[in-house]
Amino acid sequence: MSANTITPLHPLLAERWSPRGFDVDHAIDDATVTGLLEAARWAPSANNSQPWRFLPTRRGEAAFDRLADALSDNNRLWAPTASLLLLLAAETEDERGRTRPWALYDTGQAAAALVLQAGHLGLHVHQMGGFDASAVSTTFALPETVHPVTVLAVGRHDPAATLPDHLAARETAPRTRLAMDTLILR
Ligand SMILES: Cc1cc2nc3c(=O)[nH]c(=O)nc-3n(C[C@H](O)[C@H](O)[C@H](O)COP(=O)(O)O)c2cc1C
Repeated sequence: MSANTITPLHPLLAERWSPRGFDVDHAIDDATVTGLLEAARWAPSANNSQPWRFLPTRRGEAAFDRLADALSDNNRLWAPTASLLLLLAAETEDERGRTRPWALYDTGQAAAALVLQAGHLGLHVHQMGGFDASAVSTTFALPETVHPVTVLAVGRHDPAATLPDHLAARETAPRTRLAMDTLILR
């Protein structure tokens, strides 16, 4: 659903939104997954440290089910219909054990790049913080310095997807933002 912007934006920005209704008949191929990760890989980062790490899983794979199992109850109602569940993690320390203060910021930028590339490919992304990060770390035996940040549901939006009533209502609810005035520090 397009954003009601106060000035025209690039369609990739104005038309990005986070649906819950995904096309269960859509499958994502290797080249598309590579393209999404490539967009993320070329994001800027502090000192070019590139702290983002990716764990892509496709519907039908055992790893997809394991990642879906770690989602919050509400997210598990819809996200497993996406074609791809992608864990975004951040390596928060460098090879000498020094903290990377901007690791989460950088990982968010990688996510933003991926989201725009997905839009360019006719796909939608719904990012999720609602999942059990420690369960994911254990299930996938992540290194201690790599911390799960978000899980991204990626797929083709299906406006006719069947959703529980409370989620279906949110698909068509007006999208809102804080007024610009409230965001500008004076
Ligand atoms: C870091 C992050 C965590 C989020 N976690 C969840 C989540 O667990 N479940 C969910 O349904 N949406 C989640 N969202 C989606 C936001 O609710 C959504 O982006 C926001 O309401 C704005 O809507 P829009 O993306 O359609 O513009 C998350 C988004 C971000 C960026």
